Amino acid sequence: MDRDRLLRELSEFLRIPSVSTLPVHNQDCRRAADWVAAELRRLGCRNVDFLGSETHPVVWGEGPKVPGAPTLLLYGHYDVQPPDPLGEWTTPPFEPTVRDGRLYARGAADDKGQVFCLLKAIDARGKPAVNFRFLIEGEEEFGSKVLFDLLKREPQRVAADAVLVADMSYVAPGWPAVYTTLRGLCYGEITVRTSKTDLHSGEYGGAAPNAHEELCRLLTRLKSDDGQINIPGFYGAVKRPSKAELAAWKKLPFKEKDFLEKRVQGKGLVGLKRYSVLERLWALPTFEIHGILGGFTGEGAKTVIPAEATAKVSMRLVPNQKLKTVERQLAAAVKRFAPKYVTATVRFLHGADPAQIKLNDASFQKLDEAFKSVLGRGTVPARAGGSIPVVPALASAGAPVILTGIGLPDDRLHAPNEKLELKQLWDGIEVFSKFYDLLGKNDAH
Ligand code: BES
Ligand code: MN
Ligand code: MN
Repeated sequence: MDRDRLLRELSEFLRIPSVSTLPVHNQDCRRAADWVAAELRRLGCRNVDFLGSETHPVVWGEGPKVPGAPTLLLYGHYDVQPPDPLGEWTTPPFEPTVRDGRLYARGAADDKGQVFCLLKAIDARGKPAVNFRFLIEGEEEFGSKVLFDLLKREPQRVAADAVLVADMSYVAPGWPAVYTTLRGLCYGEITVRTSKTDLHSGEYGGAAPNAHEELCRLLTRLKSDDGQINIPGFYGAVKRPSKAELAAWKKLPFKEKDFLEKRVQGKGLVGLKRYSVLERLWALPTFEIHGILGGFTGEGAKTVIPAEATAKVSMRLVPNQKLKTVERQLAAAVKRFAPKYVTATVRFLHGADPAQIKLNDASFQKLDEAFKSVLGRGTVPARAGGSIPVVPALASAGAPVILTGIGLPDDRLHAPNEKLELKQLWDGIEVFSKFYDLLGKNDAH
């Protein structure tokens, strides 16, 4: 492998600011799609195409035909999250830079670096006997609507013997993982209105309701200090992990103290104390406030009672919660907890059902073997706290969906100074190329 050339090529991909949620970057998303399409053509793919036209295209391609060989669908995303706050980056987010063996850039780990790894593994050591299919989308980071619609219209796109998704991390350095669940997501805006317009806080204060105060009270009714979410019915469908699974998590290289001190870098953890931290992160639903808008936030002081306030919130969902049910539960709870004199509404932006994967296909053993041959350690089963909205749809045709990744837990996804360690990248290319080889040695034939 010519590592200098690979690093140059990945840097080219990372330099494109393909932020899917911001319309000013629409052209950049298109350029990132073009970059992926050019790579697929270079790999000799047929029918390279842009599918779904409303926003950012899904890049489709089919590798050279290998009669009798199994079909492997590779999924990934070329879009990235916004890079702000810019001031906190040591080097700018779209100027990829190597420091101490780490490549710093937005998208280095999530997910351009991993897409790159999947693609470069294909021709790393000859041509594996695999029929590749590619679905590389451009709006994973804001709900995957285009891909959902596409798969509804054309469900045969996911027909394969296995689907490989590399958009996650090892559980610790040297400990690769395969994931059995992803959390779902329900993202919305809660808006509270208390009067027709803003009011002078001297003339009206003491008797007129305040939208921000009402919103805060409403939010604390939805979730209390101990971390309990009080949306009626919310925990009803939540399935606890088995004793065996909980026991297996105790053997993982995860220490609550390190998680607090090295990863959160805060002063204390929160949440339902009767559950372990891993259970809170992997197997319990959440309610988070992402931002609160409205009122006066400019420089200086303004004495006003705001008439409207909006909170952007989301809930992570776990098996067997359903997005549609949770949407109804939240809307009902907001109506019920808001006082009569307040107009409270919820607008849902996007969401996803949780995913659950059984590790009973032979391809999981092949991935395990591939990691073992490169790192000396195979995959441990784990769960993921994050979401990939389209995974349940990728699983809908019955193919096993292999959820794995080459990142590390401290890669700072979505945050300043996102990085990918180069060792992870080089190992990853070897692991996937070995995996493709093993898959091609189809023992069923
Ligand atoms: N790669 C992540 C998902 C992920 C992160 C899985 C960490 C496991 C561990 C993905 O790109 C992501 O960030 N998804 C979003 C989806 C959402 C915007 C619909 C997420 O989880 O917030
Ligand atoms: Mn991702
Ligand atoms: Mn992401």
